[in-house]
Amino acid sequence: MSRLSQPNLLFLLLPALLASGGGAMFFYPDPQASLLEHLLVDHGGARATNFSAAISPCTNYVTEVGEPSRNSGRTTAAQWLRVAFHDFVTADTTTAAGTITGGIDASIGFETARAENKGMSDLIALGTVMSVHLCGGKAIPYRPGRIDALHADPTTGVPEPETGVDETLEEFGRAGFNRQDAIALTACGHTLGSVHHGGFPEVVGPEAVTPTNTNGGSNFDSTRGAFDPLVVHEYIDSTGSRGGALVTSFNETARSDLRLYESDGNQTMRGLYDMTTEAFQDTCAELLGRMIDTVPSGVRLRDAIAPMAIKPVNVTWDFNGETDRLVLSGNIRILWGAPTVTKVVTFSSGDLVTSLSPEPEKRYTAYGMSDTYFYPFSIPGSAIGDATSFTVSGDNLTTQTFPISRAGQTFFVPSMSTATGTSASFTVASSTDSGLGEERLAVQVAAPVAQPLTLAPKIVTATVNLIKAEDTKSGFQFWKGSYDVYQQVTGAISLTLTQGGETLDHLLLGAGVAGW
Ligand code: HEM
Ligand SMILES: *[C@@H]1O[C@H](CO)[C@@H](O)[C@H](O)[C@H]1NC(C)=O
Ligand SMILES: *[C@@H]1O[C@H](CO)[C@@H](O)[C@H](O)[C@H]1NC(C)=O
Ligand SMILES: *[C@@H]1O[C@H](CO)[C@@H](O)[C@H](O)[C@H]1NC(C)=O
Ligand SMILES: *[C@@H]1O[C@H](CO)[C@@H](O)[C@H](O)[C@H]1NC(C)=O
Ligand SMILES: *[C@@H]1O[C@H](CO)[C@@H](O)[C@H](O)[C@H]1NC(C)=O
Repeated sequence: MSRLSQPNLLFLLLPALLASGGGAMFFYPDPQASLLEHLLVDHGGARATNFSAAISPCTNYVTEVGEPSRNSGRTTAAQWLRVAFHDFVTADTTTAAGTITGGIDASIGFETARAENKGMSDLIALGTVMSVHLCGGKAIPYRPGRIDALHADPTTGVPEPETGVDETLEEFGRAGFNRQDAIALTACGHTLGSVHHGGFPEVVGPEAVTPTNTNGGSNFDSTRGAFDPLVVHEYIDSTGSRGGALVTSFNETARSDLRLYESDGNQTMRGLYDMTTEAFQDTCAELLGRMIDTVPSGVRLRDAIAPMAIKPVNVTWDFNGETDRLVLSGNIRILWGAPTVTKVVTFSSGDLVTSLSPEPEKRYTAYGMSDTYFYPFSIPGSAIGDATSFTVSGDNLTTQTFPISRAGQTFFVPSMSTATGTSASFTVASSTDSGLGEERLAVQVAAPVAQPLTLAPKIVTATVNLIKAEDTKSGFQFWKGSYDVYQQVTGAISLTLTQGGETLDHLLLGAGVAGW
């Protein structure tokens, strides 16, 4: 496993992935699902996540930038798949107790040290789904809910180029994949990326290293950034890369793909060859889906995340800077909608109806299949009354209702909360007549910091009791707190406001575009 290159994972999102549903009211349907949906759906344009920007275009290598990246001969999308495969393949589905150990649990983070890598296993699965889909494959249903391992898998043994085919098939079999599955899964994986001289000099010779291929990547097929059946076609037809270095290596011992593909007389590879592209993609999506959904017994995966047709984002209470008035603002993201049709927001308090207009001339792709429109809104608290929800409707839309907290109910004030390099300070507002006692409000802080010897960040957590502040504003009392991690924070800081154990609000500080 020491030769496994790891993608530069975008850990800025991890604390948010930790947040459970609770009472957080402005993430729909809850913080975790909202964020994962955002990662899956918002790919192009100004509101795209950096997660997808790292993968697409699919020849990207995100660990380096500019010329060094283009000349590296490495591929982030491919690295995601390989990491997922290596995490998965130590699964044991054949234990005497009938349970599954290992699988996609991010135990791969434990090469050297115990880590607090919460959220990693869902990210490994997500990286696979996004890489396949953004690079030309099908949308594999993405089901969150994996639980990160606290130690390495008990089972060891990842197939290597020199591994004999019987042992390789045994390792796949233990993980629940028979010979045919193993051949097809490997062909599906090996349609992206390369075998590199840097890391595998016994498979790829030094001649592969050039100024424009500094790691000496030998591509599996002629389209290293496309998830397509070409690797199968070039193998059977003996054209192009002829199946790649694990078929053609100068070193016969290292021809693991050839041994695997030939182990049933090329029958499975011929079957894949004869398929339509559509059928090949379905086969790969099914096998890769099985791979990422191989999880230890006891883990219950949640329903697949589906793109939301209507999604309120960044919906929050705050004070308008100029007037000090309380406002509810945000954006309604609409998928599949024509920009010309009218969209309206109705509050449960009464007949207030606001007609929305999309941001002018801005179009964003979503899940590689449609345009997205963002409809900003900003409404004074006084106009909303004591509404507890709002409804979005419009032409060609199935009307949907979303809960909010009442105007004046205790909340984080985003414009009065900041994250600096190592610390966060935050302000909470409560109505002056709420009679809130000082001891009642606390903020749970979760901040990611780098930790040595593992690719996962450590999440530092703390509970901060809030202090009543001197200043008031339009009938509001403020409460303040801060927390210093004394270490560079590497991503968004997650804040959860509680009152006697009950969750009142949730805020992500410093998440930027990627974190909404
Ligand atoms: C017999 C089983 C397998 C063996 C022996 C094997 C071996 C290897 C080796 C030696 C590399 C080169 C890595 C590098 O130079 O960076 C590689 C690359 C890769 N493998 Fe496999 N592999 C196997 C199965 C799979 C499976 C089942 C998948 C995914 C479903 C997969 C996905 C990948 C990908 C995407 C790459 C390209 C990585 C990159 O370009 O950075 N492999 N594999
Ligand atoms: C061929 O590969 C095997 C297994 O990795 C290695 O032990 C051997 O040294 C390699 N031979 C050459 C000539 O590189
Ligand atoms: C399998 O296919 C490869 C590539 O076309 C070919 O070189 C090899 O001889 C075939 N092996 C068998 C057993 O048919
Ligand atoms: C209406 O919605 C469907 C999907 O729900 C979409 O395919 C179609 O393009 C939409 N039509 C318009 C005019 O927005
Ligand atoms: C996203 O990536 C771009 C460059 O690829 C960078 O300029 C930007 O700061 C990143 N945004 C976040 C929120 O990390
Ligand atoms: C949400 O707010 C963040 C931070 O202010 C901003 O960067 C992002 O673009 C907003 N997203 C949407 C969809 O409004």
